[in-house]
Amino acid sequence: MTQVLVASNRGPVSFSLSEDGELTMRRGGGGLVSGLAAVTGTDASVLWVCAGLGDADRVAARRSPDGRLDLAGYETGGAAVRMLEIPEGTFQRAYNSVANSTLWFVHHLLYDTPRSPHFDARTRRDWQSYEAYNAAFADALARDAAPGAKVAIQDYHLSLAPRMLRDRRPDLKIVHFSHTPWAPPEYFRLLPDDIGSQVLLGILGADHAGFLTERWASAFLDCCEMLPGARVDRAARTVTCSGHVTRVGVHGLGVDGAALRQRAAEQDVAQRARALSEQVGDRQLIVRVDRTELSKNIVRGLAAYRELLVNHPEWRGRVVHLAFAYPSRYDLPEYREYTAAVERTAEQIVEEFGTADWNPLILQVNDDYPRSLAAYRLADVLLVNPIRDGMNLVAKEGPVLSERGCALVLSREAGAAAELGEDALTVNPFDVSQTAETLHHALLMPRDERSERCGRLAAAATALPPQRWFADQLAALD
Ligand code: F6P
Repeated sequence: MTQVLVASNRGPVSFSLSEDGELTMRRGGGGLVSGLAAVTGTDASVLWVCAGLGDADRVAARRSPDGRLDLAGYETGGAAVRMLEIPEGTFQRAYNSVANSTLWFVHHLLYDTPRSPHFDARTRRDWQSYEAYNAAFADALARDAAPGAKVAIQDYHLSLAPRMLRDRRPDLKIVHFSHTPWAPPEYFRLLPDDIGSQVLLGILGADHAGFLTERWASAFLDCCEMLPGARVDRAARTVTCSGHVTRVGVHGLGVDGAALRQRAAEQDVAQRARALSEQVGDRQLIVRVDRTELSKNIVRGLAAYRELLVNHPEWRGRVVHLAFAYPSRYDLPEYREYTAAVERTAEQIVEEFGTADWNPLILQVNDDYPRSLAAYRLADVLLVNPIRDGMNLVAKEGPVLSERGCALVLSREAGAAAELGEDALTVNPFDVSQTAETLHHALLMPRDERSERCGRLAAAATALPPQRWFADQLAALD
């Protein structure tokens, strides 16, 4: 029997703790859980190693024999789960300070460089925690893996783990997958040299390094070319370092169309669709759905909507913008400030243009998945304008569920633009005026053209379902 181990910061379940100490488990979503369907039903056994993210998760990990959770009755793609109890301080420094405030910023080009980053002694202390956090994963994987097992390590939280694991268990087959973009070399060089090298060397401990698009894979190879001692073969897409060869691959991730349509046909979605329809009436609907994430560019998106209403007053009273901006990484001050900026901008638009019988903009900040699906069903225009994004699944889910055929206004800096660019209306995410004009064209697009484009977008969005994405990575290890 083959064994597959998955390692990621956030696992497929999370816990909450009641006052009387009772634990309740909640299933998380995401492409990775769906991707595991590729190995369930085969003779493979799957163990998912993840971090306990809060106090309740840590209690759950402590109460389970050997940290292995009993998930009977929970749909986790057939995986058993081991939740690691990482000391709180170590976790905060690894997750917030290094992964989310440094590596995420580098890969998404988010720094305001005259002021930040500012790497100092504290950076080194945080980095030690990141090393310890990665080592905790490498230890657990090394302990749990059967001889010759395949290990799929996810994302920028765990860039050191592949090398650490190879050092402990050279018999394992390791793939690392980056769900984010990869920074161009001149931006990657913002990282202190030793830290930048460790990130690259860490991933090069894997046999296969996967990326969502050619562009990110190529940027990774560009960075490896700067790494002393590494030899990059662009044609073969390999990097050789200390005698070990890492193959670099592109594995696009799309949506499972059948599963998504089935979920969107449920009662709770229908109920929310009715409520939204009542609010919007017979006006055209521009939808956006994002986590409130600096890279998602929500403030410029709202500014573009404002400019549309200024430059094309004929749309006043005839269009509604539904903006869902769900909470994310609230521990970070930049994210709290950004959330406030989103709310402020939205209030200004409502104040400036709203009338007694027309609300131009509805901003919702509480996470409601069925409501997002309902909005996709009703959208005339879907706005996805990230500064930079590994893929962006909103751009794929929207067209799949659209009932009227929606026009997709899409940032050229989203990974999804590589697959959807021909039928989307692409924009430079920094150009607010261009985005406003593109929204105008999207609203004017003839119905026939809109639904033809939307049909092709939906086909492209479902061409690479998560099961295939995951199976391809595992196959690349053979
Ligand atoms: O969307 C890119 C991504 O890297 C996902 O792969 C990952 O699950 C997420 O970001 C991390 O977000 P969070 O900090 O909420 O766990």
